[in-house]
Amino acid sequence: MTDIQELLLSRIRDVADYPEPGVMFKDITPLLADPAAFTALTDTLAGIATATGATKIVGLEARGFILGAPVAVRAGLGFIPVRKAGKLPGATLRQAYDLEYGSAEIEVHAEDLTSGDRVLIVDDVLATGGTAEAAVHLIQRAGAEVAGLAVLMELGFLGARTRLGPTLAGAPLEALLQV
Ligand code: PRP
Repeated sequence: MTDIQELLLSRIRDVADYPEPGVMFKDITPLLADPAAFTALTDTLAGIATATGATKIVGLEARGFILGAPVAVRAGLGFIPVRKAGKLPGATLRQAYDLEYGSAEIEVHAEDLTSGDRVLIVDDVLATGGTAEAAVHLIQRAGAEVAGLAVLMELGFLGARTRLGPTLAGAPLEALLQV
């Protein structure tokens, strides 16, 4: 494990039985409150953005906004929010995805992505991969290309990497930590 990985991991707090019994929640607020750790995370993700040739950063509501926005600034790129349905005022593209119980929908402003764009998706956690998969579909439906998916943490035992393989079609999936 690198020094940066150790720093990031040390600033993630495990919260047992949240939001429901049996779940170990990964709380990133200590990392956000530590300027050295937050800067290291931002710089690392911005390096991935540059390496993938991204032209825009998409952040996934809500924690993907906190991580993605400074990455966009650091990499000199625009930031595009993918929001839960009903939050964006303009014309949107909407994509449904399955949750453990039921389903949810995310949206992006249609005018924010065009056929010339290469998009790096940024989020905090990759769990089942359902949210990221829906985001990839949104980006592709907008006519843009997915440059990659970059997350702070991957919960590898849930199999998202396998699930996303065909969807990402060779675009890199970069997880800074396996937890
Ligand atoms: C969490 C997390 C990811 C997503 C990962 O977001 O921030 O976006 O779930 O889960 P998945 O891989 O199984 O789709 P959540 O929907 O809890 O929203 P929040 O960031 O607004 O809390």
